[in-house]
Amino acid sequence: MLASISGSDGQTIVREQIREFRIKENDQYTLWNYDTPTPYHKNLYGSHPFYLEHRLDTGKSHGVFLRNSNGMDINTTQSSITYQIIGGIIDFYFFMGPDPEMVVSQYLDLIGRPAVPPYWSLGFHQCRWGYKDLQNLEDVVANYSKANIPLETIWNDIDYMDKFKDFTFDPENFPVEKMQNFVKNLHSNNQHYVVIVDPGIAIDKNYTPYTEGLQKDVFIKNHKGEVFTGKVWPGFTTYPDFLNTDTISWWGEQMKKFLRMVAIDGIWLDMNEASNFCDGECKTEKDEVKLSLDLEPDGGMLQFDPNNPPYAINNQNGKYPLNKKTLDMDAYHHVDNTNILVYNTHNLYGLTECISTRKALLQINPDQRPFILSRSTFPASGVYAAHWTGDNHATWDDIYVSVPDMLNFQLFGIPFVGSDICGFNGDTTEELCGRWMALGAFYPFSRNHNINTGVPQEAYRWESVASISREMLMIRYRLLPYLYTQFVLANKGSELPSHQMATVVKPLFFKFPKDEYSLSVDWQFFFGPAVMVSQVFQSNTNMLKVYFPPGKWYDWFTQEIIISTDKGLNKTLSTPKDKIQLHVLGGNILTTQAPGMTTTECRKGDFSLLIALDNSYKADGLLYLDDGFTINTKSFVYIQYTAKPDGVGNTVIHAVVTKKSGKCLDLQVPNLNTVTVLGLKNKPLNVEVNGVALKTDSYSFTKKILKISKLTISMEAEWNMKIVEAK
Ligand code: GLC
Repeated sequence: MLASISGSDGQTIVREQIREFRIKENDQYTLWNYDTPTPYHKNLYGSHPFYLEHRLDTGKSHGVFLRNSNGMDINTTQSSITYQIIGGIIDFYFFMGPDPEMVVSQYLDLIGRPAVPPYWSLGFHQCRWGYKDLQNLEDVVANYSKANIPLETIWNDIDYMDKFKDFTFDPENFPVEKMQNFVKNLHSNNQHYVVIVDPGIAIDKNYTPYTEGLQKDVFIKNHKGEVFTGKVWPGFTTYPDFLNTDTISWWGEQMKKFLRMVAIDGIWLDMNEASNFCDGECKTEKDEVKLSLDLEPDGGMLQFDPNNPPYAINNQNGKYPLNKKTLDMDAYHHVDNTNILVYNTHNLYGLTECISTRKALLQINPDQRPFILSRSTFPASGVYAAHWTGDNHATWDDIYVSVPDMLNFQLFGIPFVGSDICGFNGDTTEELCGRWMALGAFYPFSRNHNINTGVPQEAYRWESVASISREMLMIRYRLLPYLYTQFVLANKGSELPSHQMATVVKPLFFKFPKDEYSLSVDWQFFFGPAVMVSQVFQSNTNMLKVYFPPGKWYDWFTQEIIISTDKGLNKTLSTPKDKIQLHVLGGNILTTQAPGMTTTECRKGDFSLLIALDNSYKADGLLYLDDGFTINTKSFVYIQYTAKPDGVGNTVIHAVVTKKSGKCLDLQVPNLNTVTVLGLKNKPLNVEVNGVALKTDSYSFTKKILKISKLTISMEAEWNMKIVEAK
């Protein structure tokens, strides 16, 4: 996937695609959705013909999007980008920014802004291929609880299915009645259940989704007009034609029956590149003769084998035929009496499956935000689904690349993203898994997932991992209101009175567009606008070099001040296995909430504000609250916080509240209980809230940290606070 391009001093340095953040010069990037677990510098699950170019001399960015779903190679030199596209139209869009966040925001205004996730889906998820029966699932849930590690959602991979067939439960190992009970219990503990669904529909005349699908004519056809046959987990399969409206309603019907069977909370869409264990159609006797294709819209004829067009894109670095591990390119969809070749739609398959699935889930629960996770993506996927970065490996390289991966997807408008924590392929280790659980607590989407053959890697498997998971997930949970606000801002764009936000986590240069070193950093990131996360990506290392762009910083744990001058600061910090580096950038006001073991519990905790003043003793921050599950809710509380000197030696904090009540306001908003102010210039003499002085025992000032507690300020009305300081 092409991500971002950066230039420095007028020269174009190109920034990069998945698994590396920077696009290199004199390189080639191939866009062709493909299922592969070892994708360093190869085309992967999704295609995003978008790049962002950033110029250091001006600190300005622009973006370029080629709206084209065909296969392509993109070639870079120091001064040029060439697109070699094998079909479709040339339809370029340019986004003028001028800052990087604005570029992304303008891009999202075109392709669609990302969905606001249901609040619960921001909790921690555990998954594994190989949870072989219900007992196994129950044990995992119980073990998390015993270990006191928050678990919001337990997932089932293909193991739950009857012979790997979609929309079924294995009658022996996951009997429906028992699953209903299991999910009921989960729900009564405010926990959730998500299952995998693959697009391949098993060819089996006793299997209703298949027979009904045949009857309704919803599957992709081969060039002879027969149902196309591929092979995935259940054996021979057909592929739903998600461009066809009959398919969308058939898919909706299957989903409805499935969710009526068991009250599943979310759907995980895998293998939707579309993946196929055969190269093209699986029949043994394959036709030699391929159809001649009319690929040009004006009717001109191009005679070639569509799996091997005259220009071979660099599929998997080997110029493989386009049907490698996927459908034949002369297979076709049927849309409004027109046949559309897979040659043109291949890269859209995952996106169209997400669209159909979201529609299905909304028909079942019209008021509720759906939760969908998709492996394959295309521009606009974020409107419908979250994304995980696929089959990574339990290696130190892969924990590192999870950061640039996640940052790329911010540019692609799919901010709800994360990698398989502790690594999917291979055997993880206690040390790696501990580092990864700590890092993954700050992925927008936080899920531990493992292949069936790997050593078990749930967070409770090792005491050291359990302990760091507990601590870091509690920080994540404390920060949920802040995290959730970023998702809402990304969704609303300029609708809310704020800066145009588009990303949930950010590369450093998004905040420091003129800082040269920030541009090169793809191993640290901002969680939201204010918290910089830095982790160790090496075995047996206790020290970590952390880069601080210019400004005033505060250690999350000790609240100690770190000043970075104009040149920036590299500081080596002790970071043993039970630690991660978190630093709050001065100038920000963060809202936190007393955490609990589930997101539901978290929503009941009292609020706190962390006010981290910058060098001019100012800060601001935003908070958005709603019920967390109603789609397009009109009921919300939106708060704009500012802190600044009042000109006569005091610091004034002000909360401007916009409150809207629609018909379904179900918001029990707890009070603001604590305010912590970091970086005050002088010792506070007294503190007033709305003009009334607080008792002196309700605040303390040590090591330049002012902590005000025992407050009972409503979050739903405007308030102000004056900190009168010694002169
Ligand atoms: C694919 C998915 C992986 C899943 C496996 C089995 O490899 O990427 O997450 O566990 O299939 O369904």
